[in-house]
Amino acid sequence: MTQNSNILVTGGAGFIGSHAVVALMKAGFTPVIVDNLSNSDASVLDRIEAITGRRPAFYPEDVRNEVALTAIFKTHAIDAVIHFAGLKAVGESVAEPLRYYDNNINSTLVLCRVMAAHQVKTLIFSSSATVYGDPPSVPIREDFPLAPTNPYGRSKLMIEQILGDLFVADSGWKIGLLRYFNPVGAHESGLIGETPQGIPNNLMPYVSRVAAGTLEYLNVFGGDYSTPDGTGVRDYIHVMDLAEGHVAALKYLESQHAGTSGGDFGPGPLIVNLGAGRGYSVLEVVRAFEKATNRQIPFRITSRRPGDVGVSYADASRARRLLNWQTTRNLDAMCADAWHFMLK
Ligand code: NAD
Ligand code: UD1
Repeated sequence: MTQNSNILVTGGAGFIGSHAVVALMKAGFTPVIVDNLSNSDASVLDRIEAITGRRPAFYPEDVRNEVALTAIFKTHAIDAVIHFAGLKAVGESVAEPLRYYDNNINSTLVLCRVMAAHQVKTLIFSSSATVYGDPPSVPIREDFPLAPTNPYGRSKLMIEQILGDLFVADSGWKIGLLRYFNPVGAHESGLIGETPQGIPNNLMPYVSRVAAGTLEYLNVFGGDYSTPDGTGVRDYIHVMDLAEGHVAALKYLESQHAGTSGGDFGPGPLIVNLGAGRGYSVLEVVRAFEKATNRQIPFRITSRRPGDVGVSYADASRARRLLNWQTTRNLDAMCADAWHFMLK
């Protein structure tokens, strides 16, 4: 694999995938997008083209469609795959577990089968800090116990295990399991960002709408956690830092011999946290957003959200050591870029 390599990006029309496509193009790779548009819009292609000056190849297909996926591999000499495609809403996964397991797990099985049939064996998978569940302590290291608490999180852990089994069965694979903390923000152009449908579940999109006046006030879920101000603490990571983390992981896998990609964990998939390595409370986010927008964010402290943990943030040292990557954009930039996108 070299720069110029063709990288298949599943879910490349989505929030993180679209930013990764921009980062890949900037680094000289050629992304090929497959996305069934179940949670995104084809207009993102125009925006990627406006940012990068080039329009990536795009296939509006479901990754579970083996015939369609095979045709893409026949058309493009794919060198590696980044697999973002998946369903990600925790509450929805509790209500519709079969849809979540079918979409997330079957897409991965079909993808790996088609990759193997075409001798493409470099794969990066979007995992989540949700696989840690309620951690015994913070910062969270990659070797912490894995105990997801909902079907979405379990689908992520199952896929990590499936990919581990695949690695054992065939040492020709190079696999990266990237556990994201809380991706927020938007590309600095304001052209691409996060557009959740309906009322947002996640903090930053909700706060953006309160700042814009389309929602009246923020419900702060819990003011009685053992944190400095009582509100929940998370590791927010700017989506462009996260996108660049994928380029770093791709380069790392490229530099490894097949069968050895696990770094100091020994042979196995590469497993790394992608986070900033520090936490901010809900109220700190509110204050940073007020500063970035020059607007007031009214809020009310309410009861805890079921399933929430008090504090979660990454030990980000492994990514720094192995991938030579760390975040460079702070909370102010995350808020400013999220707001810029909202205004556009
Ligand atoms: P997103 O919903 O914006 O993007 C996912 C994309 O995948 C969407 O464009 C959707 O249309 C597409 N898709 C879903 N199922 C598909 C299928 N079967 N075939 C083809 N396309 C399909 O979500 P995102 O925030 O960009 O997340 C990307 C990945 O990162 C997901 O796997 C998610 O679970 C994971 N992740 C996200 C977060 C987060 O906070 N956003 C945190 C940790 C992990
Ligand atoms: C949630 C998901 C997690 C997923 C992540 C993606 C749950 C239980 N967890 O994580 O699996 O990987 O999104 O980004 O849904 N908050 C409020 N008011 C709001 C919204 C959020 O106070 O309206 C608080 C939460 O209690 C939490 C923090 O803000 O302390 C961040 O919440 P959120 O953005 O939903 O992310 P997570 O809960 O970390």
